Amino acid sequence: MTATTPHIDNLLHESRRFPPSDAFAESAVATSDLYERAAADREGFWAAQANALHWHTPFTRVLDWSNPPFARWFDDGELNVAYNCLDRHVEAGLGDRIAVHWEGEPGDSRSISYAELTAEVKKAANLLTALGVGQGDRVAIYLPLIPEAIISMLAVARIGAIHSVVFGGFSAESLRARIDDADAKLVITADGGYRKGRAFPLKPTVDAALAPDADGATTNVEHVLVVERTKGEVQWHEGRDLWWHDEIAVASAEHVAKPFPAENPLFILYTSGTTGKPKGILHTSGGYLTQAAFTHKNVFDLHPESDVYWSTADVGWITGHSYVVYGPLANGATEVIYEGTPDTPHPGRWWEIVQKYRVSILYAAPTAIRTFMKLGRQIPQQFDLSSLRLLGSVGEPINPEAWVWYREVIGGGLTPVVDTWWQTETGAIMISALPGVTTLKPGSAQVPVPGIELDVVDERFRSTPADEGGLLVITQPWPSMLRGIWGDPERFKETYWSTFGPTTYFAGDGARRDKDGDIWLLGRVDDVMNVSGHRLSTAEIESSLVSHPMVAEAAVVGASDETTGQAVVAFVITKASHADAAAAEDAAATLRAHVAQQIGAIARPRQVFIVNELPKTRSGKIMRRLLRDVAEGREIGDTTTLADTHVMSIIATTVR
Ligand code: PRX
Repeated sequence: MTATTPHIDNLLHESRRFPPSDAFAESAVATSDLYERAAADREGFWAAQANALHWHTPFTRVLDWSNPPFARWFDDGELNVAYNCLDRHVEAGLGDRIAVHWEGEPGDSRSISYAELTAEVKKAANLLTALGVGQGDRVAIYLPLIPEAIISMLAVARIGAIHSVVFGGFSAESLRARIDDADAKLVITADGGYRKGRAFPLKPTVDAALAPDADGATTNVEHVLVVERTKGEVQWHEGRDLWWHDEIAVASAEHVAKPFPAENPLFILYTSGTTGKPKGILHTSGGYLTQAAFTHKNVFDLHPESDVYWSTADVGWITGHSYVVYGPLANGATEVIYEGTPDTPHPGRWWEIVQKYRVSILYAAPTAIRTFMKLGRQIPQQFDLSSLRLLGSVGEPINPEAWVWYREVIGGGLTPVVDTWWQTETGAIMISALPGVTTLKPGSAQVPVPGIELDVVDERFRSTPADEGGLLVITQPWPSMLRGIWGDPERFKETYWSTFGPTTYFAGDGARRDKDGDIWLLGRVDDVMNVSGHRLSTAEIESSLVSHPMVAEAAVVGASDETTGQAVVAFVITKASHADAAAAEDAAATLRAHVAQQIGAIARPRQVFIVNELPKTRSGKIMRRLLRDVAEGREIGDTTTLADTHVMSIIATTVR
């Protein structure tokens, strides 16, 4: 399919259109009547999707929204999430189907059938029970992307406990904060994992996270289960630490999945907000699995008997939860997971994996696509990518050029590209085209998924006219919505449900609707940054910077970056004792390393500028807008509201 009209690559004037081909539309999973059915009876529509799952006890109530913003979906029903992802496929005769093709970074691999995965999860469930983990207990998972990550998550779900997966790139301090907040009693980790051609240790980070803190406080973690991956040296805490393989070897493979209420918590996943403290986003079982499975099937046009699906996300992020673990496995898909980085040992590694497993559906982030664009099409062109028939994008806006490149170079000019907008909080995809139904528009995430109601409004909650920017809100509850912030119902209400009243969810994103009603995401409107599709808070990085003894004050902004979408740029005032200009470069390097060490490498600022002043309003609020102008090399905007209007010219000279 080619573009129908000439184009200008500009968000306001993007005019290329890609209607579905007849061949694709004919065998597409999604049909246009989904929209009509959902519009006619939204709750009935979601009930029908929920009934695609196996319920031990069928539900009779669909939605209880009598106490907003606390929603309950399917709440008198009972199910077992792991049973839905495993046993029922085996019982349906699909035990031999491959669930997971795992590819390790050094080139080792393992293909696991549904029957094998079910057996592994049963053993792990028995092991967790033997370690005293029961319904409602929290288990922290800090693993590389190896099969045990999926096995652990499903084993926790199977016994009605709650997992909190912490991305393996987070620091000991970040891990500790998450263990404390959720009060985890078990940690599952590995000796290490592989990234960028090297084994990186994980176990020492867990040891550091569990050590008594400066005040001597300890955690309630009773055991640490350690998967052997790199065979790196580990320190052993007798009585606390256990080798996964030793324990699994003696665990029974018999395990009957018990039903749990639909609203039983399934997991907590921490994400950055506008304050320094990460929020533990809480998701529950029945509604979450319903929307994850429905969207996975319809947005990715999944034909489980023939497709090979690959989401490149790590299980440490929400995409890894909904579209590596729960959605694909609930749908009986065959999927690929890859432990390592895209350019190890060569820049064609992803495409080699697509070729090896004949991947047909690929779901990746725009940052990766832009990086591949820069490297050039000659790299993917060395591989056979003809198996690909659908491409997805997530995590940040995808610019039309990257969208078109993705379709042309990776998709052979034929594949639909679905740009999916959603959040950790929404649990599953909320805005996307439906392949085979929607005419695609590069750069726009397009339309709400059937059954989702949203709007773009101004500050007074009036729908904005076509082509005008506004705030994205979700106006009706949805099955996979977050149920709260762990341990903090007030923050939950305040953060998401206060801007426009207790029944309207404010997403924190700006958006614009065009004349066709298609939605274009415009980025965050709060102090949250999006770096390579990962969410970071300015406040969290600022508080890390000021925790360094040399720092008096810090301001962080997200500056636009060609590859990563945004990049972290910090402006720092050092204490008098460190104000020596000659040392500024050292100071910047030290502070960049300090943030990486405290939070994790993803938070390391691209630049740290040592300055003498920060631009503040008369009421003392830092004007980030002006710092962003400096960081992006633009002319500095209106400075009239500054307490001291000279500050900006001084800063601009310092950073030049
Ligand atoms: O700003 C939006 C951006 O990522 C934020 C959510 O981040 P997180 O909870 O980490 O989840 C990322 C993966 C679902 C959103 O508030 N975002 C996500 N997808 C898109 C996007 N921005 C534009 N287009 C998207 N497709």
